[in-house]
Amino acid sequence: MPQNKHSGKLKNTKKTHSTILELKNVSKIYQVGTQTIKALDDISLTVKEGEFLSVMGPSGSGKSTFLQVASILATPSSGKILINGKDTSTYNEIERARLRNKEVGFVFQTFNLLAKTSALENVALPLVYAGIDETTRRQKARNILEKLGLGDRLDNGPSQLSGGQQQRVAIARALVNDPAIIFADEPTGNLDSKSGEEVKKILKQLNLEGKTIIMVTHEHDVAEIAKKHISLIDGKIVNGKLKS
Ligand SMILES: Nc1ncnc2c1ncn2[C@@H]1O[C@H](COP(=O)(O)OP(=O)(O)OP(=O)(O)O)[C@@H](O)[C@H]1O
Ligand SMILES: [Mg+2]
Repeated sequence: MPQNKHSGKLKNTKKTHSTILELKNVSKIYQVGTQTIKALDDISLTVKEGEFLSVMGPSGSGKSTFLQVASILATPSSGKILINGKDTSTYNEIERARLRNKEVGFVFQTFNLLAKTSALENVALPLVYAGIDETTRRQKARNILEKLGLGDRLDNGPSQLSGGQQQRVAIARALVNDPAIIFADEPTGNLDSKSGEEVKKILKQLNLEGKTIIMVTHEHDVAEIAKKHISLIDGKIVNGKLKS
């Protein structure tokens, strides 16, 4: 597993667990014709470095919206999001994209890999936007794919890989730029139980190595690998404990 720059910083010091993500009174309203949908309703939340947070809640409660807004993929209707202390509310599209490329990795339920593009190139892509040269890109992508057990699949495209393998490629892509936070939206939702177990193991291991993870899931046994739990109901946080 890769050493990451964010956990590395704390190596020889007492763990300070600095705040890495802060949501301040965040709401998200969707307007569809005459209908107004309040998908997030005045959410405030602090996530510290090294935390592993699960987000549960019924369908339509705002979980995906929460991840998209918290990862600055989407903008809130009101409120602020701070990543590593940087207030993103004044950022334009380009500044947001730049910060996202540097600090955010996203894993989707449906993998979202580029079709007809090899595993290696899919993983190397975020490094193109980060301005890293081709040799280094390929090296980094190869290293991380090898660590996730896909060293013999570098040249395969998504259609030549199983669901579990595709999700591992997607995790490699999320990790390749060593982001501060990994967001995962139902990362095991489309996987059979064996592949789901592999993905759970990888996420757990990444968190043990210091990576901050925020994960949406419907499944209790998946949520259990996180250390903190919240639930959303009607776009509001209900601080939750996992029932055993
Ligand atoms: N782009 C959009 N335009 C309009 N309404 C939206 C949009 N995206 C989500 N919504 C609405 O916002 C609410 C929250 O949706 P969201 O996708 O965040 O829920 P979710 O908790 O992720 O649900 P699921 O468990 O089914 O994935 C829902 O009422 C949904 O219909
Ligand atoms: Mg969702």
